[in-house]
Amino acid sequence: MKRVGILFGMETTFPPALVERINGMNAGVTAEFVQLGVTRMDAPTGYDVILDRISQDIPYYRSYLKHAILHGAQVINNPFWWSADDKYFNYALAPKIGVAAPKTVLLPSHRHPPQTTSQSMRNLVFPLPWDEVFEYVGFPAFLKPYSGGGWKHVYKIHNEGDFFHYYHQTQDMVMTLQEGIEFDSYFRCYVIGQEEVHVMPYDPRQPFESRYVRDAPPTDPALKARIVKDCRTLCRALGYDLNTVEFAVRDGIPYAIDFLNPAPDADYHSVGQENFEWIVDAVARMLVDRAASGAKDQARDYRWGAFLHGSGNGEGNGEKKAVTKKPVRKKSAKTTGK
Ligand SMILES: Nc1ncnc2c1ncn2[C@@H]1O[C@H](COP(=O)(O)OP(=O)(O)OP(=O)(O)O)[C@@H](O)[C@H]1O
Ligand SMILES: [Mg+2]
Repeated sequence: MKRVGILFGMETTFPPALVERINGMNAGVTAEFVQLGVTRMDAPTGYDVILDRISQDIPYYRSYLKHAILHGAQVINNPFWWSADDKYFNYALAPKIGVAAPKTVLLPSHRHPPQTTSQSMRNLVFPLPWDEVFEYVGFPAFLKPYSGGGWKHVYKIHNEGDFFHYYHQTQDMVMTLQEGIEFDSYFRCYVIGQEEVHVMPYDPRQPFESRYVRDAPPTDPALKARIVKDCRTLCRALGYDLNTVEFAVRDGIPYAIDFLNPAPDADYHSVGQENFEWIVDAVARMLVDRAASGAKDQARDYRWGAFLHGSGNGEGNGEKKAVTKKPVRKKSAKTTGK
């Protein structure tokens, strides 16, 4: 019997639903919540596949997951790449692989990091070329962390005064300044196994609990097709098997706004019944598929150069990809967004 483990934090709905679903599939795969204590270097974890929902907050778990790969487990998502990735890199990558992204500038942190002095940063020019930055990005703009989540330290900026007001509050955080997309519509998409896409109309201007739009009008098929294609392109390039990708649509063009979400919100109360059913079903099938496929040399997949060229887990080297790429079965044309 193959074993799938779910590693999670405060979530209450998604992990138990997944375990119940996988165990109900009778597919020769058993699922459970991961049990761990200390991690001994010579001891395998006992799991064939681990779904990681929380190592971004628990560094001990991140190290345990790398250890799990070393001992033959597959981990979703890839803890090596997740540790290396950041949102600024993602924005810079997108246009190189044919996906529209807002114009974005990476900014040196306002303060030098702890334990360093201004001398430590003497390669930086002074003053910074702010006029060029504002001319390139324009207004409105968004000042936001180069890697972050939960809308923390995300500021809408209307003019230079606004910019310096907020930038001066960002301490030693590394920030980006990004073109604001004045959008006509906005979508958040689940992308599973780098293949299956569920496009959800999303209204970020609403209060948190009503952002997933219920009973939305149908999306233009050509726009939806482009969104689905862009989702696959981004997730294949970045190697994420579970991700959400957000797009702001302006003049018919979907701009990728946020696509480093390897432990995306999947809470029943937040995403709603229909989206919850979709994500439980798609992730359960992917985990069973990965466990059954038995591919065990995930550690060999990581070749940074392949990521940089947008070809994902080692494919750029002409190597056979170790993790199966077999698409997970579609639930229905209606819900897969194809
Ligand atoms: N360039 C932009 N143009 C228009 N709106 C933006 C832009 N960047 C961010 N936003 C708005 O700010 C919100 C939060 O930004 P973003 O998703 O990048 O931050 P986050 O902290 O990663 O959020 P999440 O909790 O979704 O991970 C977006 O949902 C969107 O409404
Ligand atoms: Mg977001």
